[in-house]
Order: sequence, then structure tokens, then C-alpha cells
Amino acid sequence: MPTYILGIESSCDDTSASVLCDGKVLSNLVANQEIHKSYGGVVPELASRAHQQNIIPVVNQAISIANIDKNQLNAIAYTRGPGLLGSLLIGSSFSKSLSLGLGIPIIEVNHMQAHLLAHFIEDCNLEKPTFPFIGVTISGGHTQIVMVRDYFDMEVIGETLDDAIGETFDKCGKMMGLPYPAGPIIDKNSKLGDPLKFKFTKPKVGDLSFSFSGLKTGFLRFIEKESKSNKDFISNELNNLCASLQKTIVDILFEKITNAIKLTKINNVVFGGGVSCNSAIIKKFKSDKNSFKAFFPKFEYTTDNAAMIAMVGYLKYNNRDFSNLEEGAKSRYQI
Ligand code: KG4
Ligand code: ZN
Repeated sequence: MPTYILGIESSCDDTSASVLCDGKVLSNLVANQEIHKSYGGVVPELASRAHQQNIIPVVNQAISIANIDKNQLNAIAYTRGPGLLGSLLIGSSFSKSLSLGLGIPIIEVNHMQAHLLAHFIEDCNLEKPTFPFIGVTISGGHTQIVMVRDYFDMEVIGETLDDAIGETFDKCGKMMGLPYPAGPIIDKNSKLGDPLKFKFTKPKVGDLSFSFSGLKTGFLRFIEKESKSNKDFISNELNNLCASLQKTIVDILFEKITNAIKLTKINNVVFGGGVSCNSAIIKKFKSDKNSFKAFFPKFEYTTDNAAMIAMVGYLKYNNRDFSNLEEGAKSRYQI
């Protein structure tokens, strides 16, 4: 008998639902919330309201595209955390109600684990990593290096002391007048710019820790100073600024991951999270010159998506690792 899992993701500003059959994706829908663009970042209250509007149509459509009846579902997996509490509450309450209505188990999922376990989605075009590996979760809210010994044996061995890597892209982009999220635009503009044109200082923090707040402040001071003598500095130099900033961020990441490889002697590096679709990161980590092997998820499984939540649900379903209705949403939820 095939196992059908419905995954529901609502940790930030994307409402997503997906149906997996034995680990294969039958549907994976994401409703993006355009509303945040005009505010230059995610507004939590607006995010929860939009989740509430989106969740029923997105789930209905995911089930209909999967071409199954909801009574065929074996379990519902939902994001318990980390994320915005109001957003998480919409997904968790909806999932609990649906599981009660259908009389099927509910499975809670850690969003950060899901970003890494997305690599185990059954897809003939994807090579699956083998354990142990170094997990690198890079997104708008997180920057972590994780020692992954097995599916559910993970330990954070390095993380950011302040801003996340995606937040750094987004906030520096905002300083240059780019809309939210600026990460993909910086990536695109960088292709036309000189990465060596400007130098930005790199943080001096412990072996596996990250810090991006100094880079962010340094970047702001630099563009403010240059704009005083040339009011068109940003527009004239936009591509070079993007390319130089991106190079600095990629170099910081590369240095830290190289440290992690030396310390752990593990040379499989597995990426997850929205920033892992950055083209400069992929190029640098996939280079033949590296002595390690890097794994990147398919584009649709990098940014927030419910297929990765359903995948963790499927793994836990096979272990009969079900949750109870008392387990609530957790805005902070360590891997
Ligand atoms: O994983 P995700 O969808 O949501 C969070 O859990 O945060 O990641 C979103 C982040 C945003 O900061 C966005 O700017 C960044 O991923 N991002 C990128 C690129 N595509 C998305 N950053 C750099 N280059 C990209 N190509
Ligand atoms: Zn995420």
C-alpha cells in the first residue's frame, strides 16, 4: 500500500502544501505573499493574515493536483518551528483540525531539519548524500553548520552570532534601494559586475561562528560616504557593489565550511535554505578544485516549501514517530 503524506509549511511568508507518495512529490504548491515587498521585509501580522486566507485553497489544490482523495492521506506533517509564531499557529492549528477530521496521525517537523532532509525526496535527478555529512542551512532567518550523523541525529556546530546570511543580502539590498527579497536580485546583478571592485571587511569571529552585522554596517557607511560626493554612486556602481558584496559573503561562507571540514574530517557538504540557490555559492562550492563534495537541492526545494516538510513526515511515519495535539508551535526550535 502506498503511503500518502500531506505536508504543510507556514513558518514565514510562504503558505505551502505538498502531497508525497512514498517520498515522491505528487504536488508542491507555494503561495508567495507579495504584500511584504512594499514594506521592505516580512510584517508578521500581515503574514499570519495572508496564511489564514491562503491555507484552505493551497491545501485543496495540493490534494487535487496529487489526484487523490483526502481520505487516502496516511498522515499530516506540519512545521512546528522555528519561525514567526502567528504564522506557525495557522499551519499547526489547521493541520491538527484536519488530522482530527480525517482521523489520521499528525507529525511535527523542525523546519531547519527539513531544509537538509529535502535531499532525500525521491527524485531520479537528485543524488542523495550519505551519512555523516556537514549540513549548511543558509536562509533569511538562519545560518548554521550542522553535523548530521543520521536523519534525526543532528548537532549545530556553528551558527551566526547576529544576522543571518539571507538577511545580510536583503538588508544590504535595501540600502541600495532594491526591493525585498534582495538576495536573488543581488545574485542577478552580480553577473554583470566586478567582484574585485570594492573590498569589504570580513568578521573576525571563532572557527565555526558567523557574524554579518559588521559587514552590514561597513557596507552602509561605505555607500553613504561615496554617495555624499556622488549622488548617483549607487546607481552607477550597482552591479559592482552587488558583485563585491556577494563575493565577500561567499568568501566568508567558504572559509567557515573549510574550517568545519578540517575539524570534522567529513567531506560531504549538504546545503539547504533559500540562499543555497545563489549562483556564486553553487559555483564556488561545486568547483573541481575542492577536495570535498557539495550537494545542492533542486531549486524548488531550496526556498521554503512543503515538500521538504512532507519528506520529514514520511521518514517519521516509517518510524511511527507521531505527535500529539498538545505539542504547540515553537518560534524558537533548535535542530
Ligand atoms: O529559506 P527561505 O525561503 O526562507 C527562510 O526560511 O528564511 O530563504 C529566503 C532567503 C531570503 O533572504 C532571500 O533573499 C534569499 O533566501 N535568497 C537568495 C537567493 N535566493 C533567495 N540569496 C542570495 N542569492 C539568491 N539567489
Ligand atoms: Zn526556510
